[in-house]
Amino acid sequence: MRVLFLGDVVASAGKAVIQAFVPEMRKSENLTFVIANGENVAGGLGIDEKSAVDLFQSGVDLITGGNHSWDKREIAEFMARDRRVLRPANFPDDPQFPVPGKGHAVLEGPNCRLGVLNLMGRVHMDPLDDPFAVGSRWVDWFDSHDINCILVDFHAEASSEKQAFAHYVAGRVSAVVGSHTHVQTADERLLLGPSGAKTAYITDAGMTGPYDSVIGMKKEKSIQRFLSKMPQRYEPAEGMPGLHGVIIDIDDRNGEATAIRRISRFL
Ligand SMILES: [Fe+2]
Ligand SMILES: [Fe+2]
Repeated sequence: MRVLFLGDVVASAGKAVIQAFVPEMRKSENLTFVIANGENVAGGLGIDEKSAVDLFQSGVDLITGGNHSWDKREIAEFMARDRRVLRPANFPDDPQFPVPGKGHAVLEGPNCRLGVLNLMGRVHMDPLDDPFAVGSRWVDWFDSHDINCILVDFHAEASSEKQAFAHYVAGRVSAVVGSHTHVQTADERLLLGPSGAKTAYITDAGMTGPYDSVIGMKKEKSIQRFLSKMPQRYEPAEGMPGLHGVIIDIDDRNGEATAIRRISRFL
């Protein structure tokens, strides 16, 4: 199978660039599944039903989340009836205060299945439950359900945490793709697990959104915040819509990654 993973989609520029490229790429690249991190798709903060539906209509199969998953609270109600929007799986699991939605999904293809897991790191972020322990448990769960093709969106700030997690599960999952920083890294590669099985990895898939910006937001507001130290109301930028992500090839028979390459397109 061939999977396109798109880094954090920001606001209307992100949606526009997906609409412009993804339906065509599904055919020209022979994509089996398209997954996008959508934590910033609703005006830069969070995700709502309308923006989720817009992404689905542009050819996205599954939307992952992160620290901005709850910025639009109403998404909780949508998650309850549509499993195609995930939030990190390592939110606390307290029966008294259940967290809406799920952190995992299984995508069904014509003759293959892909397990997808969304996790969030804890370095320089709100510390959720241990993503290593929770992630390992979910990998075992996919294994016990005969799902050997597994992709993890590890949403985290620190490159060290993302690399450590990828090495921790190397050979047990098909791919670990980082998100959150909105900047694509140039370290895509295949990691070797203890048994020699290969796992595709990149520290960050990048941003799908407006590149004439500071991580998707208007430059002026960001500069003002740094110079004045006063809080600013961020507004999404619009210029230079770009699509960044990775295309990963996975051998359906054993779940091993065979290739990973970076994608960068501008409108
Ligand atoms: Fe983001
Ligand atoms: Fe984030």
